[in-house]
Amino acid sequence: MKKFTKMIALVLVCGMLFCLAACDPASTPDNSTPDSSTPAQQTLKMGTNAYFQPYEYYEGSKIIGIDAEIAEAIAGKLGMKLEIVDMKFDAIITAVQEGSVDFGMAGMTVKEDRLKEVDFTTSYATGVQVIIVKEGSPITTVDDLYAEDASYKVGVQLGTTGDLYCTEDFGSENVITYANGNEAVLALVGGSIDCVVIDNEPAKALVQANAGLQILDSHYADEDYAICIKKGNKDLYDKINAAIAELINDGTVDQILAKYIH
Ligand code: ARG
Repeated sequence: MKKFTKMIALVLVCGMLFCLAACDPASTPDNSTPDSSTPAQQTLKMGTNAYFQPYEYYEGSKIIGIDAEIAEAIAGKLGMKLEIVDMKFDAIITAVQEGSVDFGMAGMTVKEDRLKEVDFTTSYATGVQVIIVKEGSPITTVDDLYAEDASYKVGVQLGTTGDLYCTEDFGSENVITYANGNEAVLALVGGSIDCVVIDNEPAKALVQANAGLQILDSHYADEDYAICIKKGNKDLYDKINAAIAELINDGTVDQILAKYIH
């Protein structure tokens, strides 16, 4: 009997100890508590939309591409660890403003109305808005979209410059927005829209991946890509801007661009 009571006591004590350990916040892994022997590396969070090959796209579960590599090089210069956060393209600027990410990098065009919301670094690449059509389409130049009796349905990625320009030029009733370029191109292949307006490099990748499509020679708009940072975040702005300038000057940016753009 005595032995039995002892056993129960032992079980109770063990249970209590286990509970204490489980409930103690210090015993749960916490990345923000630095280990004094190895100073914790700070994380630099990048907001992007990873359906934009070759700038950012998935290879398995990893996000790779031009922006991912340049951002990695910037983080390296800052002595920080890069974390890429994938989100909807039209959520990036808000995420930057709210501080849930440190910067936005998504083949993002420097545009006047965006400059009111965020700051942009020096531009590291250029882009062109082009038009994808089905082979044999009646649309053969950008002018066809503006023809008097034309009422073509144009597909775009929501919140992109393609969306903004086309809505301005053709009216929202003729512009169909999609979560990303892939979905817009699927709609084009399926015949529910007449063309897709999107940046030239993603356009190339999309045309390569889907038979029966072509990119028109005439350009819709020329643009500069840059990194966006929260207004007033001068310290980070200066650091990232200096890092990107160095990476442009020492040829790293060109090397990364050449790796993905042929
Ligand atoms: N250059 C265009 C813009 O800034 C499209 C960018 C889309 N980027 C992306 N990662 N999905 O609006």
